[in-house]
Amino acid sequence: MHHTWHRDRYAIMSSSISSADIYRGFVNQLRYPEDYINKIVHGDCIDVMKALPSGCVDLVVTSPPYNLKNSTGNGMKNGRGGKWSNAALIKGYSHHDDCMPHEDYVAWQRTCLTEMFRLLSDDGAIFYNHKWRVQNGLLQDRSDIVKDFPVRQIIIWRRKGGINFNPGYFLPTYEVIYLIAKTKFRLVPKANAYGDVWEFGQEMHNPHPAPFPVELIERIVGSTDAQTVLDPFVGSGTTALASLNLGRNFIGIDVSDHYCNMAVARLMGHDLSRLSDESKPKQNTLFNVDIESEP
Ligand SMILES: C[S@@+](CC[C@H](N)C(=O)[O-])C[C@H]1O[C@@H](n2cnc3c(N)ncnc32)[C@H](O)[C@@H]1O
Repeated sequence: MHHTWHRDRYAIMSSSISSADIYRGFVNQLRYPEDYINKIVHGDCIDVMKALPSGCVDLVVTSPPYNLKNSTGNGMKNGRGGKWSNAALIKGYSHHDDCMPHEDYVAWQRTCLTEMFRLLSDDGAIFYNHKWRVQNGLLQDRSDIVKDFPVRQIIIWRRKGGINFNPGYFLPTYEVIYLIAKTKFRLVPKANAYGDVWEFGQEMHNPHPAPFPVELIERIVGSTDAQTVLDPFVGSGTTALASLNLGRNFIGIDVSDHYCNMAVARLMGHDLSRLSDESKPKQNTLFNVDIESEP
């Protein structure tokens, strides 16, 4: 599949890409659905989400920046990655310094969640991945971020591996995933048997500093019958890739052109023909998946 580039309408385009396009620049010139569905959109996620119509996605799966650089030493200030399993994060993201005053960070994330929630269909849900930590003796359990959103459940993602340089702490091995759900949201049959503690190893061969493991996102997407999946912090494109693998549509957004390119490179060559017609993203019949039982 070869897309035609709209050089006159968008600031740039790169060469031929088979399965996803990057749109840089003027979000307000993009048209829904054709410029969003199964595309990686380069921009600030709030700007891009604000341009999308309410109820246009069934599922949001995302991991925001954790504000890790705002740290007291119980994080990454020791310059070695400390307890954080992916020392690459010390360098931060390419276009986000991950170091906001805590209150600003909370306000920003609440605005992001508000937009995500607006974009959800009536039976949709958000899987919002974050990390709890203690800083200056205060527990940051992220309740200030998710306050007033309908949190239905917290899933523990247990990650294997990691190196602990800090003799004062046990090696941290888990993150949390908030399931924030509209009332009508339901899992597909048998998915509830996965339980609420999931073990997935870290992604080892991905140059992005904080990627999801593909299997984790396939677990989430495959536990729902969502047809269109949004990740407003899509990074290296894991949510898009997992959605494609399961025959679902995606919308991916990232502020970094570097990571957008990374995501597109991972998606190249994937077959979009199984997906619904972009002009009819709500087609019903294509996306029934069988959920495998746990080994
Ligand atoms: C934890 S990473 C997500 C990684 C992703 N789950 C993956 O598998 O590669 C967070 C991402 O948020 C992006 N980001 C930071 N600020 C953003 C913003 N305002 N709008 C969109 N993306 C942003 C960063 O560039 C980074 O790629």
